[in-house]
Amino acid sequence: MMNILGIETSCDETAAAVVRDGRIVLSNIIASSLKEHALHGGIIPEIASRRQLEFINAVADQSLSGASLNLRHIDAIAVTSKPGLIGSLLVGISFARALSFALDKPLIDVDHIKAHAYANFLECPEAKAARKVPKLPAVALVVSGGHTNLYYIKKFDQFRLLGQTLDDAAGEAFDKVAKILDLGYPGGPAIDRLAKKGKNTKIHFKSAPLPDTYNFSFSGVKTAVLYHHRDQKHHTDFSAAQTAYSFQDSVVSVLTKKSISACKKLGTKTLLIGGGVAANSALRTQLNTEAEKNNINVYFPPLSLCTDNAAMIAGLGFHLI
Ligand code: KG4
Ligand code: ZN
Repeated sequence: MMNILGIETSCDETAAAVVRDGRIVLSNIIASSLKEHALHGGIIPEIASRRQLEFINAVADQSLSGASLNLRHIDAIAVTSKPGLIGSLLVGISFARALSFALDKPLIDVDHIKAHAYANFLECPEAKAARKVPKLPAVALVVSGGHTNLYYIKKFDQFRLLGQTLDDAAGEAFDKVAKILDLGYPGGPAIDRLAKKGKNTKIHFKSAPLPDTYNFSFSGVKTAVLYHHRDQKHHTDFSAAQTAYSFQDSVVSVLTKKSISACKKLGTKTLLIGGGVAANSALRTQLNTEAEKNNINVYFPPLSLCTDNAAMIAGLGFHLI
């Protein structure tokens, strides 16, 4: 039995979690400074790292008490080493290094984006009891505020990057379009909600297909929304809901198409989705439909493990130790 303490401070969140044997989430604590950033319409790195410095001790303590354990029961410490805001990462890494040194326990560096894909292997109370454990090899799509990566995962220490965004990340495009439509920050959940009211639309945006590659580009569709909004917003029939729907549909379609096509090309029946945008309801519906048609098993983490958390770090850390 191995208990790993995970530490994650790559963006606005200060997170700590204890995971047993890479699977069972014993605790999962997250403190966020998101509300303070929302006032500015985006993440302010200096605010993020200062809050992380204030929160980290209490968050780590809570993750231990939440798991009914103390430091003596921790066998290793896993920490997000990249990518992220440099000042924020530094807080988590320094904390984890000091703890590893003081306890004389191993320290494991974990890649945040790969950990998002790993979230599908975790067992937590929110996930259904009879949830199937995905099988490797798998294709994984990680869609977050900072990244859009498509991987082929042979083993947990063998991730091959198939493609990525050439400009905006999927979540970033949601956030920017939400800003254009004045929906606040973060924009993904707001667009998801609003788009439900805009289904019957003649507006048609399209994300760049970039055929024959697994790369993505979302800056074009974002600009198309910007011009549409600029030119149409004063017309009586302008609909923010329809604009949101069409934008979301264009992003979701290209994500679905490339993920399914990667599975078919590489001959894998497992598709793992991760990252904040994996919470998107249209993405879930479209991927489920296409996966079923193609006899592929698609997995989404429970909502609490889609967005940034330390359980995914501790979980993947178990396989890298
Ligand atoms: O993975 P995450 O929590 O943080 C990063 O590592 O970036 O992802 C945050 C991103 C934000 O861009 C947010 O707008 C997006 O995930 N997001 C969504 C939804 N919920 C969160 N995007 C679309 N639909 C959602 N329901
Ligand atoms: Zn993330």
